[in-house]
Order: sequence, then C-alpha cells, then structure tokens
Amino acid sequence: MATALANPQLISLAAGFVDQQTLPVEATQRAVEALTREPERGRRALQYGITPGYAPLRERLIEQLELPAGVAPPSVQQVVITAGSNQLLHLVCESLLDPGDIVLCAAPTYLVFLGTLGNLGCRSYGVTTDRQGMIPEALVEALERLEHEGELPRVKAIYLVPYFDNPQGVSMPRQRREAVVEIAKKWSRRHHHIHVIEDAAYRLLRYQGDDIPSMWTADEEHDTVIVAGTFSKTFSPGLRVGWGVLPPHLVTPVCNQKGNIDFGSPNFNQFIMAEVLDQGLFLPHVEYLREAYRTKLECMLAAAEREFASLPGVEWVRPEGGLYVWVTLPDEIATGPGGTLQEIAMEEGVLYVPGQYCFPLEGEPAQANTMRLSFGVPTCENIEKGMALLARAIRRVMDA
Ligand SMILES: Cc1ncc(COP(=O)(O)O)c(C=O)c1O
Repeated sequence: MATALANPQLISLAAGFVDQQTLPVEATQRAVEALTREPERGRRALQYGITPGYAPLRERLIEQLELPAGVAPPSVQQVVITAGSNQLLHLVCESLLDPGDIVLCAAPTYLVFLGTLGNLGCRSYGVTTDRQGMIPEALVEALERLEHEGELPRVKAIYLVPYFDNPQGVSMPRQRREAVVEIAKKWSRRHHHIHVIEDAAYRLLRYQGDDIPSMWTADEEHDTVIVAGTFSKTFSPGLRVGWGVLPPHLVTPVCNQKGNIDFGSPNFNQFIMAEVLDQGLFLPHVEYLREAYRTKLECMLAAAEREFASLPGVEWVRPEGGLYVWVTLPDEIATGPGGTLQEIAMEEGVLYVPGQYCFPLEGEPAQANTMRLSFGVPTCENIEKGMALLARAIRRVMDA
C-alpha cells in the first residue's frame, strides 16, 4: 500500500479496500440528518453507549443472519457490536486462546487474522483447501496428526471465511460447512471445546448463485459456532461497525474483554447504521454494490481470459462474489520477495499481494507461486491495463 501511495502511476491490484466511488454519502447524510434533527436523540447518539452495543441495532443484526424457518434465532444478548469484525475476531481469540494454542485455518486464509493469532502468541495451522474451501477430510487428517503429536488439547478453534473468502474467493458448499461443524463437535471433549469461527465479511457481496445459510444453522446446540459480521464491505469501512453472534457461554468473556478495552464501540456510528437500516437504505445500497462489483469482476475475469490464457500453467479462480481473484502460476515462479516476478511487475507498473503471506505458519505448506488480485479499488479500465501489465511481467519471467 505504501508503494502504491508513493507511486500513483502504479496500478494496484493489491489493495483490499472497497471502491471509493461506491461509498454511500447520500444515505449517510440522510441518517445523520435524521439523528440530529431531534436534539434529544442526537444527544443520545453522541453519548457513550453500553459495552455490547446499541440494542435496536443488535436486534436488527439478528435479521442479518437470515436464518431459515425453524432455526431458533439468538437472543439480543448474544449479539455484540465491535469496531469492525477485526475487533470481534481479536476479542474472541483473547477469550478462547492461551499463548501456544492452535487455530486451524484454511490454507490460505485472511492474513490479518493470522497476524491476530501471532500477536497473541498463538499458532495458525493450515488445512488443505480446494475450489470449495477447506476440505473436511483434510481437517480430520490435521486433527489426527495433531492428536498423534500430543497437540490436540491445544486446538481451540477452526477459523473459516466460507463466503467468497479472502484471498481465494472460493465459497464452501452447505454440506462442507455442516461437516466442519460436526467435526468440531466430534473432536471436542468435556473440558476442551473446539469452536468454529465463521467470518461472514463478504456474505452479501454475491454476484451470482443463491445464498447459503450461516454455519450457525448447523450448530443445533448453539455452543460451537461464532459468527463475525461487518458493514465495512457492504456500507462503509470508515464507520467500522462490525459484530459477533456468540454462543451464550462466550458473551460474558467477550464483553469483559471489550469492557476492559473500550467499554463500547463508537455509539454515533451504531446509531447511523440503525437509522440506515430503519430507513430502508441498506438493501438498495447492497443491490447497487452487487451491480458495481459484478461488472468489475467480469472485467477482471475477461482480462484474465484474454491475457493469461496463453501463459502455460497459469490458472485462476472464478469467484461468485467477494472482492478477490486468486491466481496460481507454474511452481517455479515465486511471487513474493524470494522471486523475480514482484520486482518485474513493479517495473511494469502493477502491484499484487503475494499469496505466501496468506498461509498459516504450520500444517499445509505455503504456495509461493500464488497471488491475490483485487478488483475492489481500480476502475475497469485500470483492471484491464493492470492485467495486461501483469501478463507481460509473467511472460518476462517465463522467458528469462
Ligand atoms: C475476511 C475478512 N474478515 C474481516 C475483515 C475485517 O473487516 P472490518 O474489521 O473492517 O469489519 C476483512 C477485511 O478485509 C476481511 O477480508
């Protein structure tokens, strides 16, 4: 990001930001106007809130889970609002993990989460994935291996981004999600519970196909699955309103952690989001985003077809949503600091995220020949230019 900021002529297919042009200035203005029109309400919004967050918003967030008929919804007490879903992930890890504990993650996975684990002195252990995300059989193999090594008691959670994940853009089918919840329950012991963290950051950014129920649905006892949600991708990362839906036994530990850190996320932002939802401004905005990002995704996939198809051994994922396209190069081409591609790509004027940064430190080894491309920030024109420059850089490395 620093390189891109310092060289504005570079085309960045690296930044994971949302498209600035799509940010909802008008909807935010309407919400703020409504809040400040009545001084008493305005003053409440400008005051501190309570640690778990603004109750009317928390009630609305239960609807966001979109639970199928017949599945009991969580209580409002089980919903905690945080400063972005990153804070929720951090609080959950603080509550569940001791230094040296292990979280099983898809290999690759969301790199900031890996950083969170590292920061807490915890271990990330990679489980093999395919084009449908984490493979349940590989998850069992990882658990068996860790049991054999005497490490099973240290395994405390499984972290997944099952909707259009960051970085691969792949989604897990319903059966796999159910299988993972079942495995977590089966491998849990009386005093050793393995939780499943469902990071649903991109759930609403679906551009084709049908929604898949949250993993919450598969957890009949509601003691295993934690759901992390956010308005950062679907409304505004500047407001940074995220949330968690927690099994009852985790509400107090997470709220205690939060109480010790900030005793509540910015109240005004929560009131804004509640107002946006109440005024019916949210879903039309999501529809607009879907259109905008669908066009950009199509742009990137068409450019990949045009520019990469003639490069032997270059493959890419065609996601149904999210913000990323994952590219795999021939084994011998390293995309990170160890190889030549990164430098040549910069010479050509294009940036990407080397895939190796997204792999957990243990378990499934990192694939150095991968990269994450993002279509969130650049215009279609720049996506096309960037993809042509990237293909030229790859060709130069192949021909060297
Ligand atoms: C998978 C995933 N989870 C969580 C987040 C965090 O978003 P926020 O903290 O803004 O809610 C991101 C942001 O890029 C993400 O990609």
